[in-house]
Amino acid sequence: MEKTDDLSFAPDFAAARAYFRTRPDYQPTPLVTLKGPCGCDVLAKDETNRLGLGAFKALGAPYAVARILDQRWHAKTGANLTPEATQTPDAQAFIAAQTFVCASAGNHGIGVASGARAAGAQARIHLADTVPESFADRLRAIGAHVVRSGAIYEDCVAAATKDADDAGDILLADGTWPGYTTYPKWVMEGYCVIPEELREAFEASGQWPTHVYLQAGVGGLAAAMAHMIRLNWAEQPELIVVEPDVAACLQASHLAGKASRGEGPESIMGRLDCKEPSIVAWATLERCGVRYATLTEAEGVEAAEQVMALGIPTTPSGAAGFGALIQEDAKRWQDKTFQPLVVISERPA
Ligand SMILES: Cc1ncc(COP(=O)(O)O)c(C=O)c1O
Repeated sequence: MEKTDDLSFAPDFAAARAYFRTRPDYQPTPLVTLKGPCGCDVLAKDETNRLGLGAFKALGAPYAVARILDQRWHAKTGANLTPEATQTPDAQAFIAAQTFVCASAGNHGIGVASGARAAGAQARIHLADTVPESFADRLRAIGAHVVRSGAIYEDCVAAATKDADDAGDILLADGTWPGYTTYPKWVMEGYCVIPEELREAFEASGQWPTHVYLQAGVGGLAAAMAHMIRLNWAEQPELIVVEPDVAACLQASHLAGKASRGEGPESIMGRLDCKEPSIVAWATLERCGVRYATLTEAEGVEAAEQVMALGIPTTPSGAAGFGALIQEDAKRWQDKTFQPLVVISERPA
C-alpha cells in the first residue's frame, strides 16, 4: 500500500473531464431551479441519476479504478492502458486478476463495483449493519462480493483495510487517513467534474450563486467542490459545509484545529454518518475558507420531504444541503441578491 501524508489537493480535473467525455453514457447532470422558502429561486444540481447509478459517487470510484489500473499496467509493461490495449488477452488477464476492496455507506461501494465491473476487474465491498439490504442487493447485481463487517461504518473501514492488506488487493477508500491519501485523491478528482459542469453553466448564464451548500460525510465531495470553486469560478460564493449534528467530524476538526471525531448515535442521514473526517478533505476545506452547519435528524427528514415535494425524489443525505439552506434567517431570503446553490446528491435506493 502507498504511504504518504500529503494533505495537498491539486487535482488533474481536466483529465477527469476528458475521461468521462470518452464514455458514451456521460452527460452533464441537470441544473434546475427550485422554489425555496418565500418563493426564492434555489439552484439545484441534480445528481440523482448520475451515470445511471443514482448518486454523484458514480464520478469518483469508477474514474479512480481506471487510473489505478492504468498506473499498475504502466508499472508492469511501461505502456499506458489505452482502450486498444484493454482488448489484448494479456491486459484482460491482468485486469481480471485485480480486486478492489472498500468500505462503503452505500454509494461509494456502488461506484467501486461498477468501475471494477466495467473494466473487467473484481470488487469486494464491506458494509456496516446500518446500510440497507437494498444497497447490498444493488452491489451483488453489479457483480460485487458483499461482506457485512461491522456495526458501524468505521468498523468496516478497519475491516476493509485489513482485508486488502491480508489479500494483497487494492484498497480504494473515499476517505483519507495518515499513511493513505493517494487513491482517495483520485476519487475526489473525479468529483471535480461537478463544479466544472457548473462553472460552464454559470459562465453561459451569468447567474452565479452567492451561497453554496455542500453536504459532507468524510468531506470528499465538499472539498472537491470547494477547491474547484476557489480555483476557477469567476464569482466567489460563501461555502457552507453541512453535516448531521451526530456526525459533525469536519466541524469538530475545524474547531479543534486538528482532525477530530464527531461523536453521536447513528444518523438517519446514512451516507453522511461518518464520525471521522478525510484528512485531505478537511485540510482542503480549511484552505478554502468555508463555514460549517449541522442538521438535526428531524431537519434532515424535513429537507428530503421538501425537495421531494419540489419534484426531485431524494433522501435526507441527498437533501442535507437544502436542509441547511432552509435554516437560514428570513432576512437572507428577502435579500434579492441571495442566490443559493445546493447539490441533490442521491436518489432513494
Ligand atoms: C448521497 C451522498 N451524499 C453525500 C455524501 C458525502 O460525501 P463525502 O463522504 O465525500 O463527504 C455521500 C457519501 O457517501 C453520499 O453517498
